[in-house]
Amino acid sequence: MEIMTVASLEKGLLAIFAVIVGAIFISKLKSKKLKLPPGPLAVPIFGNWLQVGDDLNHRNLGDLAKKYGEIFLLKMGQRNLVVVSSPDLAKEVLHTQGVEFGSRTRNVVFDIFTGKGQDMVFTVYGEHWRKMRRIMTVPFFTNKVVQQYRFAWEDELGRAVDDIKKRPEASTTGIVIRRRLQLVMYNIMYRMMFDRRFESEDDPLFLRLKALNGERSRLAQSFEYNYGDFIPVLRPFLRGYLKICKEVKESRLLLFKDYFIDERKKLASTTGSKVTGDKCAIDHIFEAEEKGEINEDNVLYIVENINVAAIETTLWSMEWGLAEIVNHPEIQQKIRAELDAVIGRGVPLTEPDTTKLPYLQAVVKETLRLHMAIPLLVPHMNLHQAKLGGYDIPAESKILVNAWFLANNPEWWEKPEEFIPERFLGEEKIEASGNDFRFLPFGVGRRSCPGIILALPILALALGRLVQNFELLPPPGQSKVDVTEKGGQFSLHILNHSVVVAKPIA
Ligand code: HEM
Repeated sequence: MEIMTVASLEKGLLAIFAVIVGAIFISKLKSKKLKLPPGPLAVPIFGNWLQVGDDLNHRNLGDLAKKYGEIFLLKMGQRNLVVVSSPDLAKEVLHTQGVEFGSRTRNVVFDIFTGKGQDMVFTVYGEHWRKMRRIMTVPFFTNKVVQQYRFAWEDELGRAVDDIKKRPEASTTGIVIRRRLQLVMYNIMYRMMFDRRFESEDDPLFLRLKALNGERSRLAQSFEYNYGDFIPVLRPFLRGYLKICKEVKESRLLLFKDYFIDERKKLASTTGSKVTGDKCAIDHIFEAEEKGEINEDNVLYIVENINVAAIETTLWSMEWGLAEIVNHPEIQQKIRAELDAVIGRGVPLTEPDTTKLPYLQAVVKETLRLHMAIPLLVPHMNLHQAKLGGYDIPAESKILVNAWFLANNPEWWEKPEEFIPERFLGEEKIEASGNDFRFLPFGVGRRSCPGIILALPILALALGRLVQNFELLPPPGQSKVDVTEKGGQFSLHILNHSVVVAKPIA
């Protein structure tokens, strides 16, 4: 009896041993078969994390591209990160294989802020994304919307100019114009979304909203939580961080709901079944909710997405553009001369005028080229194993297209580190919408930025109105304003908000 037990135990152990050896053999065979992109040698558990560090910014990744080539792989703990750094491969990811690479990765923090992809920006490529993108198109991303709201944009910029003129220090020691532009951007988007505006920079609701959006950005873009994202066994140490993220997320969504969504619903119920006059964006979104196409949470996440995707990116770009205009008086003069010649001195610039001002448009493009707000695009992902550039890309890899590198590589651009709008005035018409794979500030293809239709005219209007009304200079004692960058997980903005002297032009 005892002999029998020992024998079967032996047999059992042998079987387990055989299974383990078999599994190792098969996994070796499988990984042998995969032809992975080149990259630095990865160590167990940490991968390349200890070598490359947390800050995988566009410049560091550009340097790695010079070493490893147009496609390389970094193993960040458990995560595979594939970086693409040539126009041809960017085309492959965003266009030719747009479906295969059309999903998004989220990390532990983005999972919280997007309710695991109940939004549009961070959801995987599929039915939900298609529905959300369709539902958001009519209220936000058409020419009709531009024509409906251009007067509101012009009005907001007119008010900002008047306010700046009223501040005596603006023309002497200078002010942070960006603060007033931030109110402009909030008012532009909140008028479009809810037909609401904030009276001043001190409006308590505006201050709360701004603080919560700022916290959301800081928490999501920080590198502080990478360790728990890359190495899941360390995740328990992130408990405190994730708790704060959850609290910020809850307070923010509640603010959107209580002060904006419910208010608009109340207005609709008191003015009859439908809002009279022009519908604003949220009315269209409510209709989709009423039809059962989306739920209440999706409505909230649409508002969340617009707060981040629309306001911050456009504001950062305005800020960069303004800084470069201050630092290049000759460019500022050329913009002013074009405005005077085309629409006349003292005639306020309007949205339809912006299409008649090639130099101003070139300034906007050059701003987006040199200082891309989202230099690596929003991370893409392949749901299934795929092929790219002759290599195997494991399923669920994070794919970064280094759009900044494409637009700032001396191989393709002359003096790329200099701010030269004229480069966009040549024979070949390079547009921001992606007709040239070296210049993709809004991405291109299925997951490209639908907000480009609003962002380009708003940027031209803001910079144009400022130049029309003010001589813009660095503060006394400074020859230039600082344009040092500060990056995050995939955002890029100016490190120090510029103090700018704005002398009214008579
Ligand atoms: C200068 C301003 C802006 C820049 C530089 C910018 C840039 C981008 C980039 C690079 C992407 C990702 C593309 C990709 O992953 O391939 C994106 C996505 C997106 N942007 Fe923008 N954007 C700007 C303004 C706006 C505005 C004004 C809105 C809305 C009103 C907006 C809404 C979105 C949305 C919803 C997505 C996600 C699209 C999707 O995943 O299908 N953006 N943007």
